[in-house]
Amino acid sequence: MYKSEQLALSLKHLIETGAWKAHEKLPSLRQQVEISGFSLITVMNAYQELEAQGLIYSKEKLGYFVAENPLQAALAKKVIVNEKIEINSLVFRYLKSIQSEKIIPLGSAFPDSQLLYSPKLMQTLAQQAKYRVGYEQMPSLPPGNYELRKLIAQRYCMQGIPTDPSDIVITSGGLDALNLSLRAMTQAGDYILLQETIFYGAWQAAENLGLKVITIPEHPEHGLDIEAFKKAITSYPIKVCLMMLNSHNPIGFTVSDEIKFELAKLLHQHEIYLIEDDVYEELYYDQKRPLSMKYYDQQNLVLHCSSFSKTLGAGFRVGWVYAGKFSEHIQHLQLMSTISVNSFIQNALVDYLSHRHYEKHLKGLRTTLKRLKNQYYQYLSKNLPENCTVHYYPSGYFLWVTLPEEADSSRIYESMIQNNIGIAPSILFYRENKKQNHIRINCSFEMNETIIQALDLMIVQILEIGLRS
Ligand SMILES: Cc1ncc(COP(=O)(O)O)c(C=O)c1O
Repeated sequence: MYKSEQLALSLKHLIETGAWKAHEKLPSLRQQVEISGFSLITVMNAYQELEAQGLIYSKEKLGYFVAENPLQAALAKKVIVNEKIEINSLVFRYLKSIQSEKIIPLGSAFPDSQLLYSPKLMQTLAQQAKYRVGYEQMPSLPPGNYELRKLIAQRYCMQGIPTDPSDIVITSGGLDALNLSLRAMTQAGDYILLQETIFYGAWQAAENLGLKVITIPEHPEHGLDIEAFKKAITSYPIKVCLMMLNSHNPIGFTVSDEIKFELAKLLHQHEIYLIEDDVYEELYYDQKRPLSMKYYDQQNLVLHCSSFSKTLGAGFRVGWVYAGKFSEHIQHLQLMSTISVNSFIQNALVDYLSHRHYEKHLKGLRTTLKRLKNQYYQYLSKNLPENCTVHYYPSGYFLWVTLPEEADSSRIYESMIQNNIGIAPSILFYRENKKQNHIRINCSFEMNETIIQALDLMIVQILEIGLRS
């Protein structure tokens, strides 16, 4: 980044945070030279850049002043800086609270394990155990099993994304892939960009690494607000974005190809990296598979993270990152932490994937999830009070429910958990400075009597507690 761009960015920050008010006079060019230590030409270029962006204006012989630009002001309000994040203890307490087998898991992040059960995979595992003579005592070292990486690379190639096995690093699930990628690309104090509402693992990673988080709101229609994105990346020195664009957790939307294309262009123009969390990529209902951002990535700016957790089971702990040129760095970090993934399960997955059992399994899984989600949607839309909205998107297994603004979903969660029913309150997905009136429901469980009773109780709690808060 040029010095003038750097100066322009930091002055922009003063304007957008309100430290410099509309129509306030900026330091003169000479004063700014003294304050910043930059040359006159650098300061002039920075002021001109801010003027070109409509953030300041000049008056002949009087100098520069902060502009009053309603559009900029409105967008600035939407882009939020989260300097200190504290979510780990909350997530820990929440996950502990829903862990017991007696809790009805409407708040779980994982699909019903019965849907993920694949007899063919179990058969493969059993055969491996029986016939492998003296199975490997050595850990599989990074980047992981070559054959498995080859099969994963083939799956990318089939989606029109040229991939070599050396681009792929096998990780201990998708979360490990996200954490390793973020660690490889940032240092404490760096700015990253997250969607305002996002899987709590992303917030946890940011907290662990001491990162400053800029958030942009969801677009009510398109999922991603590309104008807010532009505003954020031109206002802050963002190094990396971590985003979900397919079957977003918790809301559920999938961003259109047109917006993904726009996003890729902006990433390229501003040389910003994207860590794409795509662990629900296989759970689409329509014939057409949504594209990942990797598809649009000509400059190798996208690190695509995924796993088998949502399709075969989170217990296997197998995920991967399409790391490209970051492969070496990520492997170094792995050698200092998780090393790699159980070699036994990697071998079984090689066998399972190469016999195309996975495709058949995925087809059945998608059909069942679609049926279940429709049932839950119908039930909740019919029985929830009129001032609640159930958001339906054709993928995954979550429904995102918006309660009236005055409702507090954490109180509903507290009361439900006393009755051994888990739901996911919105405090897990966005920060406290927003109204907490959303709930995420996992609808991958057959709608039997127990589930219907649980949903009915939730509806009562919403009426009794949520709307009284
Ligand atoms: C959006 C999202 N990303 C990543 C993960 C982590 O996946 P894994 O179990 O493969 O680590 C989850 C798990 O719930 C998730 O919902």
